[in-house]
Amino acid sequence: MQFYTSKIVFQKKIASNIFHLAVIKNSETILPGQFYMLKTHDEILPLMRPLSIYNVENETLNFLYRVMGKGTEALSKFKRGEKIELLGPLGNGFPMNEVSGKVALVGGGIGIPPLFETAKQLTINGCKVDAFLGYKEELFAFEPFEDVCENIFIASETGKEGYNGFITDIFHAQNYHAVFTCGPEVMMMKVKERCEAHQIPVWLSMENRMACGIGACLVCTCKTVEGMKRCCKDGPVFSGNLLSF
Ligand SMILES: Cc1cc2nc3c(=O)[nH]c(=O)nc-3n(C[C@H](O)[C@H](O)[C@H](O)COP(=O)(O)OP(=O)(O)OC[C@H]3O[C@@H](n4cnc5c(N)ncnc54)[C@H](O)[C@@H]3O)c2cc1C
Ligand code: FES
Repeated sequence: MQFYTSKIVFQKKIASNIFHLAVIKNSETILPGQFYMLKTHDEILPLMRPLSIYNVENETLNFLYRVMGKGTEALSKFKRGEKIELLGPLGNGFPMNEVSGKVALVGGGIGIPPLFETAKQLTINGCKVDAFLGYKEELFAFEPFEDVCENIFIASETGKEGYNGFITDIFHAQNYHAVFTCGPEVMMMKVKERCEAHQIPVWLSMENRMACGIGACLVCTCKTVEGMKRCCKDGPVFSGNLLSF
């Protein structure tokens, strides 16, 4: 973990309210499912905001984010060449060495980006990866998955693209040796239930609201069978056996 000043390589809007931000990276060891805290120039709430790693390249670190409020809106104004302060990589990441064979990645909405770096690394490790990507209406960032996954399944709630309904309607846990999921809590709960019904190991990436990002403030705690855990320091990825919703 390191606090560092980086430079914006580019920032572009890829869908309504969704931005792709690329910055110069600071570390050679960045694990899929880890995240960074980014200083956004939001003067009203000058806290850093957590964003997951979307894609790690030779020199760049890529994030995909949705503009939600003041912080992400301020972030979307950054231009190529500007300096930006980051803290990371943070958190544990997905347990890449604990899975093999056929792995399903189930992502919903802005929970989809962290699954791309995960898909890349799992494929390098020799896993066969299927991606289940659920959207409300407008699709984004599904194309890169086509290069690394065996199969991609898409659902949208409006039926504009792919299956008309929730991604969990077309996800069958019993076809896989392991499952990683990130997205809305209600979607992850369903994925966890399905996996438990077939004794398939599952890990969930929790995106609780954060303040410090380093385990000091306890803003981000979540309930587990071993008591309250900090999502930023003990997670954000937790085994399904541990989490109690
Ligand atoms: C570990 C982690 C990784 C994340 N990765 C990504 C990512 O890759 N891409 C991305 O777009 N977002 C990601 N998020 C969520 C992102 O951090 C928040 O959307 C952002 O901090 C909101 O800041 P804001 O100032 O723009 O909005 P705020 O003004 O703080 O909030 C605006 C609205 O968003 C809601 N909100 C804020 N934070 C969250 C949250 N964590 N979960 C659900 N709702 C929230 C608020 O309740 C409010 O309704 C991640 C969060 C965590 C904890
Ligand atoms: S955000 Fe402060 S303890 Fe997790």
